[in-house]
Order: sequence, then C-alpha cells, then structure tokens
Amino acid sequence: MSKQFDVVVIGGGPGGYIAAIRAAQLGQNVACIDEWKNAKGGPAPGGTCTNVGCIPSKALLQSSEHFEHAGKHFGEHGIKVAGLELDLPTMLGRKDQVVKQNNDGILYLLKKNKVSFFHGRGSFVAAKDGGYEINVKGAADETLLATHVIVATGSNARALPNAPFDEENILSNDGALRIGGVPKKLGLIGSGVIGLEMGSVWRRLGAEVTILEGLPTFLGAVDDQIAKEAKKAFDKQGLKIELGVKVGDIKIGKKGKGSVVSIAYSNAKGEAQTLDVDKLIVSIGRVPNTIGLNAEAVGLKLDERGAIVVDDDCKTNLANVWAVGDVVRGPMLAHKAEEEGVAVAERIAGQHGHVNFNTVPWVIYTSPEIAWVGQTEQQLKAAGRGYKAGTFPFMANGRARALGDTTGMVKFLADDTTDEILGVHIVGPMASELISEAVVAMEFKASSEDIARICHAHPSLSEATKEAALAVEKRTLNF
Ligand code: FAD
Ligand code: NAI
Repeated sequence: MSKQFDVVVIGGGPGGYIAAIRAAQLGQNVACIDEWKNAKGGPAPGGTCTNVGCIPSKALLQSSEHFEHAGKHFGEHGIKVAGLELDLPTMLGRKDQVVKQNNDGILYLLKKNKVSFFHGRGSFVAAKDGGYEINVKGAADETLLATHVIVATGSNARALPNAPFDEENILSNDGALRIGGVPKKLGLIGSGVIGLEMGSVWRRLGAEVTILEGLPTFLGAVDDQIAKEAKKAFDKQGLKIELGVKVGDIKIGKKGKGSVVSIAYSNAKGEAQTLDVDKLIVSIGRVPNTIGLNAEAVGLKLDERGAIVVDDDCKTNLANVWAVGDVVRGPMLAHKAEEEGVAVAERIAGQHGHVNFNTVPWVIYTSPEIAWVGQTEQQLKAAGRGYKAGTFPFMANGRARALGDTTGMVKFLADDTTDEILGVHIVGPMASELISEAVVAMEFKASSEDIARICHAHPSLSEATKEAALAVEKRTLNF
C-alpha cells in the first residue's frame, strides 16, 4: 500500500527542506524527496545552495580572501609573512567539509521535525482520490500519496548553445567550485553574480581573470552609483571585465599536455577578438528545473522559460499543488525560496503566509561586498517618483579605517515628502550584514529619520548606515 502524507515536498534545497520543516511544525505529516547525491552516492540535501552554490562559494571566497590578505595586506598591520604558499587541495577539502556539515545538518533537522526523507527522484504519476500519486525512484522504488504537493526542484546553469558544459574545460558553477589547480588564465562569460564571485576567488588565488559581458552596462540591476564604485574597485584588483561583447565560436584545442579554450568574440567597438584561456566558466544565468518531474502526467503548467506558473501565493494551475524557489518566477535566491516555502506551508495549514518581494535583499559576496534592498535611483527616476538621496563613504568611518577597508559607501533613497525609505544600497566591507538593518527598517516602513535617530554602536560599520540616513537631510556629523 502507498504511504500517505498530508504534504509531499519534491526537492530538498532551501525552498523544499524549509517548507517541509515548517509544514511539519504546523502538525502535518510530511515527506521530502531529494535526489542530490554526495561523492559516495548517499543523500546530500540542501540543493544547489548547499552543494554547488551559496555555501561552497562562500567557503572559497573566505579562504581566498584570507590568502589575499596574508599576501598583500598583512604587511600594513605589521605582520610579516614568509613562505606563503597555497595548498589548494586543503582549501577545496575544507570547502567540501563545510558542505558536508550543512548536508548532515539538514538531515538532522528533517529527522528532528519528523519529516520522512526519501532519497531519489520524485515524479508525478497521476491525480488520485483528490490528491496525487508521487513516485520516488532511488535506492528503492515506491509510490507516495499526497494531499498537497510542494514542488521545489530548483534550477540548472544555463549553457551557451555552442559550448555545452564538460566540467573539465567549460565549467558551470559546479566545475567552477572544484578546479584542481589554479588556471594561469581563466575566462568567464557573464559578469553577473557568479561571474564576479567565482572570478574573485580564482583571481585571488593567482589566475589572470577576464570576464566577457554581453551588456554594455556593468551590473545593470544595481544602483548606478554603487555599480560604478564597485567596478572601480574590481579594476584596481586586476579583474578584467569587458563589457558589450558578443561571444561567437568557442573551441577547445590542445596545449602541451593540457588544453586551451579559444573564445572568439567582438568587443564593444565591434572588433573581432580571441581570448585563449585554460578554463572557461559560463555564468550567464540559470534555467528552472523540472527534468524528470513528469509535470505533463498531471497537466502542471509551465511557461515558455520552463518555469512552473504560479500566482502571488505560489499556487499552480492544479488544486493543492504549489511551487516555490528557483523553479518559479522571481529572483533566484536561497532566502527568497525559503520565504516562499514557509509561506506555502502556512497557507496549507490555513494561515496567511506572506512574502514581501519589495524587501528581498540581494548580496554579492565580492570584496568589496555589494548589497541592496528596495529600489535603485535609476528605477525611481524611471517611475517619476520624488526622492531624496543621502550617501556616506566608508572612508569617513572609524571602524572601516581600523579594519583597513575603506572602499565604498552606504546610500539611502527616501520619499521626498513622507521620508519613507525606498531603497538602501551598500558597497563596502560587510555589506551583507549591514543590509539587514535596512531590510528591517523597510519592513516596518521606517523613514530615513528613524534610522538617523537610532543609537548605533561606536566604532562600527553600521554608523555609516546611520550617517547615510543623516545625509538624506544633509546633516552628516562625521563627513
Ligand atoms: P535548489 O537549491 O536548486 O534545490 C532543488 C533540489 O531539488 C536539488 O537538491 C535537486 O537535486 C532536487 N530535485 C530536482 N528535481 C527533483 C526531483 N524530480 N526529485 C527529487 N529531487 C529533485 N543564493 C543566495 O541567496 N545567496 C547566495 O550566496 C547564493 N550563491 C549562489 C552561488 C552559486 C554558485 C549558485 C549557482 C547559486 C547561488 N545562489 C545563492 C542561488 C541559490 O543557490 C538558489 O536560489 C537556491 O538554491 C534555490 O533554492 P531551491 O530550493 O529553489 O532550489
Ligand atoms: P546573472 O543573471 O547574475 O548574470 C548573468 C550575466 O551574464 C548577466 O550580466 C548577463 O548580461 C550576462 N550574459 C547573459 N548571456 C550572455 C552572453 N551570451 N554573453 C555574454 N554575457 C551574457 O547569472 P549568474 O551569474 O549565472 O547567476 C545565476 C543566479 O544565481 C543569479 O542571478 C542569482 O540569482 C544566483 N546567485 C546568487 C548569488 C548571491 O546571492 N550572492 C551568488 C551566485 C548566484
């Protein structure tokens, strides 16, 4: 007889496993199916984020930043380093351990919350008795019966049509996180979030990095002033970013015992160019993943991009079938997936789950970090919205000086009549942590004056946030 569940979640990434835990907390009998395998073929829940995304990339960003600091910046602090050497296998091994700790942690959390975990591929079989039959194919082959289904099957890296990923020469985010030796020359296509983060990792470890970007503007979704400041810093670091290129043929040839990847492209002036690199990372966005889900068996509707069609509440076209995370519209971010997962679990339990898409923060974990929430200055201009802007540079912040990292600024945008905060943009040290204050403020519909009147610890980077809020009324105290 099939096992019966109130909720079956397909996919155990941040969208899926968090939805499963929240549903179980609310008293539902829950199953979570995930097919990701670790190197030994065992379960590795956590999805893209834990296995080949957020977590391993941040582990390598941290390690490579330590390496760069030891080599280039310890001297400024009066610390002499002799015989500095990179031990890449240890660095990659540490990253794998960090991933494993997260996989194990998620398995523990599922167990603690009495979620039944199934390792294998979940697919729709048919609608049955007002619910759905879901097959799990893995070590075992069994069929579950679900009253509600939450699909959280994530996304995959988008390949260039003429250059499929082989993870040896042409790398997706997966291969980019486990290059066995530092390439002398590394090419990346796409200067978005992955391009900048992975480009930074390998540049810090010694690669000569060139990023080819199709658009003429750098980080078009980021506030212009912040993007310009970030670009200046990346140029200074030697991260070569060519904008407005058109990528043509990509060929893999032989070079000694290894290989060379040749990328033909035209530059912004339309001139034909060739870039030869040892490895190429293609980071041109991601596509929603419904491979093997058998969506057609039950008539689950997908859009032209392959994303599952959902309404604002993550309801699909089918009764009691929900979808969350990268497989649906909206930003492909782990915390967005988690928020949707929680909201759906609460809706299933008859509560009023809610996700505020206006306050989903973005972070790019480069150095300097880039973080923002709400609207950019160019968006406000385009919408004809009256606003006031205030900025404060880290150069004038005591803690930033003590840290030895004074790049960048905090920028506030507030409504010009009500003073409500409309957007906060940060480029600089620990922007990923500083942005939380702005998110909280915007959730509470705070004004810039509210932040300006709050006592911030001294010396702290957060004082730059307060000062940027003061700058909205042109009354900074330390600049
Ligand atoms: P996923 O994490 O992709 O999980 C989907 C899971 O479902 C996978 O385990 C998959 O194996 C499983 N699955 C799929 N189909 C089936 C099936 N039929 N049956 C069973 N299992 C199935 N976001 C951030 O917010 N911060 C970051 O710092 C960040 N860094 C990133 C770095 C990189 C290099 C990449 C690639 C992404 C990064 N992201 C980051 C994005 C983040 O990883 C995704 O937004 C997030 O993982 C989406 O969660 P999800 O649950 O929707 O899907
Ligand atoms: P992206 O959307 O951030 O950037 C892709 C870039 O490639 C864009 O600048 C685009 O203009 C460019 N591009 C597209 N096609 C091209 C072509 N043919 N030639 C040259 N350039 C081209 O996508 P990316 O970097 O692949 O990351 C995917 C997603 O993963 C991100 O959008 C984000 O949602 C998530 N992510 C989040 C992170 C974070 O939160 N820190 C870190 C890494 C990924």
